[in-house]
Amino acid sequence: MNASALSWIEIDAAALEHNIASIQSNLAKGCNMVPVVKANAYGHGYLEIARLLDPRQFTFLAVHNLEEAQLLRAGGITSNILILGYIPFADLKSAVESGFDFVVSNLDTLRKLAEYATAQNPAKCHLKLETGTNRQGINREDLPAVIDCFKSTAHLKLVGVSTHFANIEDTTDHSYADLQFKRYTELKAVIEDAGFVIKYAHLASSAASLLFPHTHFNLARVGIALYGHWPSKETYLSYRLAGKQNHMLHPVLSWKTLIGQIKDVRKGEYIGYGTTYRATANLKIAVLPIGYFDGYDRQISNNGYVLVNGMRAPVRGRICMDMFMVDVTDIPNVSLESEVVLIGRSGDETIRAEDIAGWTNTINYEVLARLGMHLKRKVIT
Ligand SMILES: Cc1ncc(COP(=O)(O)O)c(C=O)c1O
Repeated sequence: MNASALSWIEIDAAALEHNIASIQSNLAKGCNMVPVVKANAYGHGYLEIARLLDPRQFTFLAVHNLEEAQLLRAGGITSNILILGYIPFADLKSAVESGFDFVVSNLDTLRKLAEYATAQNPAKCHLKLETGTNRQGINREDLPAVIDCFKSTAHLKLVGVSTHFANIEDTTDHSYADLQFKRYTELKAVIEDAGFVIKYAHLASSAASLLFPHTHFNLARVGIALYGHWPSKETYLSYRLAGKQNHMLHPVLSWKTLIGQIKDVRKGEYIGYGTTYRATANLKIAVLPIGYFDGYDRQISNNGYVLVNGMRAPVRGRICMDMFMVDVTDIPNVSLESEVVLIGRSGDETIRAEDIAGWTNTINYEVLARLGMHLKRKVIT
């Protein structure tokens, strides 16, 4: 018999379906969403999410690396896969032979690919253009050499042209995004003028998918919004300032645990490592069997709350590796193994990934992506 999970993640299939429909209806005509399922599908589970994505509906699923692409295939996912991140030279042959599409952002990789591409297994390249993020991307001055490489190698296929915005999420001033868009269209025109017909043009991620229809072309790589989260407050504000209504995103993930111990702690006693919390009254403390190993950040020590029976239970003392304590003194009907919500809803109360991001000085993306790979994911249909 398998051991019971001490903490588990619930995936709401209906919320995912709702988000897909909402985002797709917000995209410009002719644009297909590319669900981004890298980083364990933003903590939601590679296969749990990919199995809910109909391969007939999406041109590609996007991942970061070859390992993730192989994991999807091994899990029975038949969708076309686009690899966004770096592929080491040692893996390029395998990536080509597996039939994956990949983003290419340097000439050395392109030359290596030229060695492996065949009529049977062409290298399906999506060129990443440098437009101002300065992370991946071919510089303008290198473009002629890149174009020559494609022209002189029959089975090196230039199927896509992409870039990535640097500064939509952190601001409501979109002038830098406008500049990047302008650079992208200029560089794309250089490639087209050289005689290439570009099948896939893509630069929008969630924020641009929600805000800028003119950037959609025919693919939009959507991550965080797919999972029901706004990329940032600024994106949400920009969306509302554009006169749009917020009816469109439902969080897909909840994270739950159970009470593993209940203790009476007398006034004046300390709680946890470092004696950082001292009881100011007689307390009833619940011990939860998860901790920072599971992705519950240590910065939440004395600095957050969980939900028990629809009420907030504040964290008392430090988050340990695999336990932490909360105060349930004023919460009725609490018993050993009562359910505890870490992210999600309980009664009328909700804790969002964004709340945890606020307590831990980070962004919702990081809170979700760091949820332990080992946590059980249950799909609720
Ligand atoms: C190249 C690229 N495209 C698309 C995405 C998806 O971004 P978002 O989650 O904001 O939709 C990411 C996310 O990091 C990315 O790096």
